[in-house]
Amino acid sequence: MAELSHTFGNREVDPREREQLVRDVFRRVARRYDLMNDLMSFGIHRLWKRSLAWAVNPGPGQVLVDLAGGTGDVAQKLAAVDRQVIVVDPSFEMMDAGRDSRHHAIRWVAGTAERMPLPDASVDAVTIAFGIRNVTRIEDALEEILRVLKPGGRLLCLEFSKVIGPLRGPYALYNRWAIPAIGATVAGDKLAYRYLIESIRRFPDQDALSELFRAAGFTDVWYRNYSMGIAALHVGSRPA
Ligand SMILES: C[S@@+](CC[C@H](N)C(=O)[O-])C[C@H]1O[C@@H](n2cnc3c(N)ncnc32)[C@H](O)[C@@H]1O
Repeated sequence: MAELSHTFGNREVDPREREQLVRDVFRRVARRYDLMNDLMSFGIHRLWKRSLAWAVNPGPGQVLVDLAGGTGDVAQKLAAVDRQVIVVDPSFEMMDAGRDSRHHAIRWVAGTAERMPLPDASVDAVTIAFGIRNVTRIEDALEEILRVLKPGGRLLCLEFSKVIGPLRGPYALYNRWAIPAIGATVAGDKLAYRYLIESIRRFPDQDALSELFRAAGFTDVWYRNYSMGIAALHVGSRPA
């Protein structure tokens, strides 16, 4: 994990510099972010996110946080007038890019996974989609998520993961060559998409991430692969 925490692309950097570089990536790609997701995943990210929202299965009166919520794509799938959905993200540019087109009941809050401006034990479920690999101090983030969750509350984390089976080779080639090219053409930013791909390659696989959840104190930890492990949903609970 130390390796993951201190790299940006192929470079060794100190954690503060990494945070700054990651912020910069999302500032630059914000306006084209949703379009790029559709193009890069052929729209499949929508199915994964819908499955994440089903797994949350929110009830009336609940408080839900979509951490690293960006443009609010996941929050939109969770939002309803009988519950509170809060997007927490450090990037004003990402939140501004989504705010106007999303459900009016969503609250937008500036914060990071390591530090959320929310009271202890106040949240029924935290979702984080394609966000945790951007976090520099994952252990601190998991501790902070446990702090804001009510006892029995759940963390549901959707993230790129380790591909299994025959898709592995073609997927690696697609990531290496096609994604930076699409990033250059559509978002005008090849380097930002190089970072995104490199961060996927270096991120812990399904079992290693499950272990991090358990080590942080989550119970009932399980995961489910999507599209042969291109993405995985990890779930853990704050002990009741
Ligand atoms: C790949 S986007 C995902 C956005 C959204 N969850 C989605 O799936 O469409 C990653 C988001 O993580 C945010 N982010 C970066 N560092 C973060 C941190 N330390 N804590 C919380 N969010 C962070 C970025 O600003 C960006 O909005």
